[in-house]
Amino acid sequence: MIELRTAHTADLDAGTKAAIRALLDGAFGGISDDTFENVLGGVHALVVEDGELTGHGSVVQRRLLHGGRALRTGYVEGVAVREDRRRQGHGAAMMSALERVVRSAYELGALGASAEGGRLYAARGWQLWRGPSSAMTPDGIRRTADKDGHIYVLPVSAPVDVSGELVCDWRHGALW
Ligand SMILES: CC(C)(COP(=O)(O)OP(=O)(O)OC[C@H]1O[C@@H](n2cnc3c(N)ncnc32)[C@H](O)[C@@H]1OP(=O)(O)O)[C@@H](O)C(=O)NCCC(=O)NCCS
Repeated sequence: MIELRTAHTADLDAGTKAAIRALLDGAFGGISDDTFENVLGGVHALVVEDGELTGHGSVVQRRLLHGGRALRTGYVEGVAVREDRRRQGHGAAMMSALERVVRSAYELGALGASAEGGRLYAARGWQLWRGPSSAMTPDGIRRTADKDGHIYVLPVSAPVDVSGELVCDWRHGALW
């Protein structure tokens, strides 16, 4: 039996959180505690097959600065499907659940993509950010040039110009 469910972090038990961490460790070759921290605190989409977690993604709130406004942004994190379960539509199904959350609760959706992820997001209408990216850091706004070309947005209600500047808020681990 294959089930897609959504749940806030508040409603995940310790076993489910451990299964998410194990899935992400497997998909990304080991993740740091900070990276795991960044997938928590929002709404998770979970694919469960016969009681086993085979897919995960979440959307957490961040503030992105663009066009002089701090946009309430649904930031998609930790998207992964177990290797032996890929190319069966689980990634798309999870994204559809997360996009519903983004469209209903945020002014903008955003994420930092891997190459595989980028194909999935572009096919679903996410737009590649073409302008320069930066982050607010304790030392001020700093360019994140290595992330240029990897950031995608899903415009909801905020007017965005994808050739303009985009600045994310500060956090430990990967900034985007
Ligand atoms: C990116 C990732 C989450 C996609 O998950 P997935 O479950 O394979 O995604 P989907 O099945 O919805 O779509 C993937 C591909 O399979 C195709 N597909 C979907 N259902 C299919 C089916 N029943 N039969 C064959 N192909 C299918 C899709 O068209 C898509 O093709 P494309 O990549 O050539 O455009 C997965 O590859 C993954 O975990 N990668 C490693 C971690 C990673 O990079 N995560 C993204 C971080 S941003």
